[in-house]
Amino acid sequence: MLERIEEIEQRALKDLAQAVDQETLKAWKVKFLGRSAELGEILDGLKDLSKDERPTVGRRVNEAKSKLEAAHQKRSEELRKDELERSLQGERIDVTLPGRMIPRGRLHPATQTLRRIYAIWADMGFQIYRSREVEWDEYNFELLNMPAHHPARDMWDTFYTTTPGMLLRTHTSPGQIHVMRERVPEPIRVILPGMCYRYEQVTARAEFQFTQVEGLAVGKNITFTDLKGTLAAFARRMFDKDVGIRFRAQHFPFTEPSAEMDIECFICGGKGCTVCKYTGWLEILGCGMVHPRVLQNGGYDSTQFSGFAFGMGPERIAMLRHQIDDIRQFWQNDLRFLEQF
Ligand code: PHE
Repeated sequence: MLERIEEIEQRALKDLAQAVDQETLKAWKVKFLGRSAELGEILDGLKDLSKDERPTVGRRVNEAKSKLEAAHQKRSEELRKDELERSLQGERIDVTLPGRMIPRGRLHPATQTLRRIYAIWADMGFQIYRSREVEWDEYNFELLNMPAHHPARDMWDTFYTTTPGMLLRTHTSPGQIHVMRERVPEPIRVILPGMCYRYEQVTARAEFQFTQVEGLAVGKNITFTDLKGTLAAFARRMFDKDVGIRFRAQHFPFTEPSAEMDIECFICGGKGCTVCKYTGWLEILGCGMVHPRVLQNGGYDSTQFSGFAFGMGPERIAMLRHQIDDIRQFWQNDLRFLEQF
């Protein structure tokens, strides 16, 4: 009998060494220390043994049981430690590695240019006025001195909507009428930034959607000198304090006289290059004295009031400042382009 106990003990210890996780350990415990385990059976059979044998066998069984229990306890701790070690190894963090870069957003180059333009005009006392992008033909053309079928309308290829007389504004100039009608008879100093649309073939130089910044000053005794001085001051701050500027005669139906302002090409310094197409000058805006009829359409008495207006393209200005050669870049949202600013 004692030999059998010895054999069970050896077998149990051997099995225990093979338990690899808590699961197999549990099964082992049931098998060797459970209610119907072999050692239990021997205890149950004690009564059938002789009086002399009983105490020795009983003691030996109990000894074996506590030995196995202690071994189980030890193995269980070992396994738990192993498991912890393994999970720590798996989750190991190398604190000396550099952190992952969080990509930072930045302002779109068109927005950056716009904000600079706003700041300069704000310093000169011009407020920002927002005007709608979907307009009536009346505001976009008629009230700006271009009746239906007027040939000057050809200067702006227009997106019309299915509603008769409703279109996408081709320039920010219709905003002039909105401001005047709202402010009359107060003097006005505003800029009107916003998106404009033209039914055009998209090329490197022309987009069908682009921003404009309109300017409007209305008051008493405003002259062409004020127009020139104000725009020259703007150009000196926007580009360079020594930048050369010139005004060329132009025609717009809503201003009289009208002009276009050029700045000296800052790529070649006026000597001539591909950017300025060998003229030495870059056109940046259209301008003029508000036409008396437009003043009247805005509700102002054109014998008492005068004013000047201008319209510039921020994308074009941004292209010049950053030497961007394709206007399509502005709306393609290619990060490789945008991240350069
Ligand atoms: N609206 C004109 C254009 O889009 C620009 C302009 C604005 C000219 C104001 C004169 C005065 O071309």
